[in-house]
Amino acid sequence: MEKAFTSVSAFSKCNEGRIKMAKTVLELQQITKSFTDKTKQTEVLKGIDFSINEGEFITLLGASGCGKTTLLRIIAGLESADTGSVLLEGEDITKKEPYLRDVNMVFQNYALFPHMTVAENIGYGLKTKKVPKKEIATKVQEMLELVQLEGYEKRMPDKLSGGQRQRVAIARAMINQPKVLLLDEPLGALDLKLRRQMQLELKRLQKKLNTTFIYITHDQEEAINMSDRIAVMHDGVFEQVGTPNEIYYQPETSYVASFVGNANLYHKADAVYAVRAESVLINETECTLDAVVIEKSFAGGQLRILFALSDGQKITASRFGIDYDLKVGEQAKIGWKEDSAVRVIANEN
Ligand SMILES: Nc1ncnc2c1ncn2[C@@H]1O[C@H](COP(=O)(O)OP(=O)(O)OP(=O)(O)O)[C@@H](O)[C@H]1O
Ligand SMILES: [Mg+2]
Repeated sequence: MEKAFTSVSAFSKCNEGRIKMAKTVLELQQITKSFTDKTKQTEVLKGIDFSINEGEFITLLGASGCGKTTLLRIIAGLESADTGSVLLEGEDITKKEPYLRDVNMVFQNYALFPHMTVAENIGYGLKTKKVPKKEIATKVQEMLELVQLEGYEKRMPDKLSGGQRQRVAIARAMINQPKVLLLDEPLGALDLKLRRQMQLELKRLQKKLNTTFIYITHDQEEAINMSDRIAVMHDGVFEQVGTPNEIYYQPETSYVASFVGNANLYHKADAVYAVRAESVLINETECTLDAVVIEKSFAGGQLRILFALSDGQKITASRFGIDYDLKVGEQAKIGWKEDSAVRVIANEN
């Protein structure tokens, strides 16, 4: 498959709208990693090549077990790659001890020290670096303000809500101002409402401190809302890297098209096209395909109408609202505007 996507964008817009050179913070060069399970050896990472710019928010998306956590652990130094290099601001840190790397990691389960107060947890990294107490106290206060937890310094972690605990974990990871912050499903344990709120807070914090984030989530909406770029991992490589817009509207492969936003894959002769459910038209002038409604279901504020085409292919159309004037078993013509169909490389498995 053609690798048109791993390049670094050379320029990025700065806040004032001027153009400046983007600075590469982290570079991954041909990272490979295999695990041996009993007798079977599995190659989890098959040559990851990637550059991340300063202040970028990158999300790794991919099915469970595809190697997202393993990659973050390699960047953090908690796991070693079989081959390849990790460069931080140009320095090869592949063999450097984790605590000497200017990166921090935030885990899904908070991992706060239970016997320490909020302030002690947040200040821990500075204490181990023997930073004077007064300076630690000032920095802890700043972080408490940033994560909106002023007044909580003396609380113990078990007296906090999930969202508050996660904010402490984030403050603790950011207090040393790491060059890169690695976040492995940091909001995964929170309920939906709190997760949405924390997404906004985290994004605000990231922009304010201009920290580079590499973020793992299972939640596609979260990835689309928060990321500057998304890397879709599949079969041990980054299958496509792009802005949320590119990943959603210009998927390069059938895997990306169906994994992100569940696009229809329409086979015509030998070609495969991705068509979003919201782009499928029903009984309009563009519609040339004979179809029959086989199912209707309502979810997430949308009605999904599943059609079977005369050749057996299934196509889903989505519409706002709870019903549509077509019954199961009814015939219709469906289709889409030409530019709604994106030709993709068929690779799904
Ligand atoms: N220490 C290990 N020993 C053996 N196999 C491992 C080890 N760590 C991870 N694996 C395997 O490597 C693969 C990738 O694991 P990883 O944890 O990186 O996946 P992931 O993408 O983070 O998945 P999830 O979304 O479920 O967290 C999995 O098949 C896993 O079983
Ligand atoms: Mg994982």
